[in-house]
Amino acid sequence: MTEKREMELPPRPTLFDFHGVSMIKYFTDNWENIQSFKARPDDILIATYPKAGTTWVSYILDLLYFGEADCRSSIPLQERVPFLEISVPSRPKGKDLADQLPTVPRLIKTHLPVQFVPKSFWEQRSRIIYVARNAKDSAVSYFHFGRMNRVLPEPGDWSCFLQNFMQGKMVFGSWYEHVNTWWDQKQTYSNLHYMFYEDLIEDSGQEIRRLCSFLGLSPTAEQRELVQAKVTFDNMKQNKITNFSTIPMMNQSVSPFMRKGRVGDWKNHFTVSQNEQFEEDYKNKMRNAALVFRNEI
Ligand code: PPS
Repeated sequence: MTEKREMELPPRPTLFDFHGVSMIKYFTDNWENIQSFKARPDDILIATYPKAGTTWVSYILDLLYFGEADCRSSIPLQERVPFLEISVPSRPKGKDLADQLPTVPRLIKTHLPVQFVPKSFWEQRSRIIYVARNAKDSAVSYFHFGRMNRVLPEPGDWSCFLQNFMQGKMVFGSWYEHVNTWWDQKQTYSNLHYMFYEDLIEDSGQEIRRLCSFLGLSPTAEQRELVQAKVTFDNMKQNKITNFSTIPMMNQSVSPFMRKGRVGDWKNHFTVSQNEQFEEDYKNKMRNAALVFRNEI
């Protein structure tokens, strides 16, 4: 059975340079349509570098806006919050799913670097939530995701993957560029809320309150607590709406999508010398003193 499934899947894609950013065809094939996407003023874009907590924040927003109405209870999160740039054979394109979303607001996910975001989002002044996660845990999470997800290039072994991460040879490019340029964008675009995975781990209640304040939502304390309870790691791992268990390209027996959900798992992967090299390189690349990440809490 496993063999058959493997055989039916297309080979892994390869990275190429796309306007200065490493990309794969599954995120560039539908480019013209993505770029001409018609955003609306009430759309909410959830933007992240991969593995920063996109799914977590997507589900928080989905629950805050729409609760768990019975008619939606079987719709997986990837359809409630479409992935704008994805275009994989035999699956609906993210852009089309976004166009067809019946909800108001439409919640839309992207991993695009800021310069690739369709211009209508800026023109319409749509609200954007950017989630960032520390580089070391992002790299570890991305490595395991590459192992289990055939939409991504073969990750190779951990030490080779880490070198590529430092060089920005990743799908969606350099983590360093991504978090910095989105941070810069926040200085001039006031409808952007920049938040951190580590803060969510430390105090999800506070981060949900901040999200509500940014979005102008006023749920009761009880409603907020209900959302908070539904979005714990354990609950989302068990929940078939959020655990991506229905996606055939993901082999969850290699590594589950909901893997660890912690800050500091990098310590189980980085050797002492990898850590020293990473830290040295990090200092050279992180030019923004105001943008501070926590590698542990
Ligand atoms: S993706 O594929 O880029 O959209 O992935 P993304 O959702 O951004 O990130 C996946 C990582 O987020 C963790 N996650 C959570 N952590 C804590 N609590 C909750 N509720 C939660 N939901 C998702 C998920 O486990 C991945 O991190 P790792 O470190 O791999 O476990």
